Amino acid sequence: MKDRSFPKHIGIIMDGNGRWANIRGLPRVEGHRQGSHRSKDVIYAASDIGLNALTLYAFSSENWKRPEDEVSVLMQLLSFYIKAEIPHIFKKGIVFRVIGDRMKLSKDIRALIEQAELLTSGNSGMILAIAISYGGRDEIVRTVRKLWEKGIKLSDLDEDIFTSNLDTGELPPVDLIIRTGGEERLSNFLIWQAAYAELYFTDTLWPDFTREEFFFALHNYTQRERRFGAALERIVF
Ligand code: FPP
Repeated sequence: MKDRSFPKHIGIIMDGNGRWANIRGLPRVEGHRQGSHRSKDVIYAASDIGLNALTLYAFSSENWKRPEDEVSVLMQLLSFYIKAEIPHIFKKGIVFRVIGDRMKLSKDIRALIEQAELLTSGNSGMILAIAISYGGRDEIVRTVRKLWEKGIKLSDLDEDIFTSNLDTGELPPVDLIIRTGGEERLSNFLIWQAAYAELYFTDTLWPDFTREEFFFALHNYTQRERRFGAALERIVF
């Protein structure tokens, strides 16, 4: 029996920008620039087909170790993206969110993010979560701190309470994680949330990832059998 239902939440590890640029003898930042165009295409494709939530891994907690000029270009690209796209995102009914440790971001970017989140908070369409300064382990540690600050008793703690206090608390469970660029690992992306996610890996470098390949990954997901640890005969779709 196959689960042909449509995924509610997709996460994407957008890898391969640097290699895309290297192959063409271009600076790495050019790969990120091209990559940001693909991100836009995929965001609107996902919203157009009625996906509930899309999470994009734009900047990991480990990416702070990259050369200063690359970090600075990535931050500029992200602010440029937020400034330029927010009116369109708003019109499309998308809810904009950022997950990750935003205290590490500059005051200017934080302010931009807060404005964009506030502006789109009344929308009812797809939730677009951009992971910036994000690491799954860091998220888990921040969540433990948050629960402690809220005074949650250890005896009351369960998986549901923990999950709803993660950065992704308001998002549905992630059904599918796509990684471009040929590596087959999660690299600290949504590690708690990915417990039962399907994984789709492709050699395509992110700046070459088209909306057609995005739809192909979705189609591939609908052909899979999801058991969530249950015996096959217990699954009814
Ligand atoms: C990984 O490629 C990609 C990143 C670290 C950045 C991803 C950012 C974007 C696509 C642009 C901004 C996003 C939005 C939402 C507008 P890499 O540099 O690790 O590539 P490599 O493995 O080939 O070196």
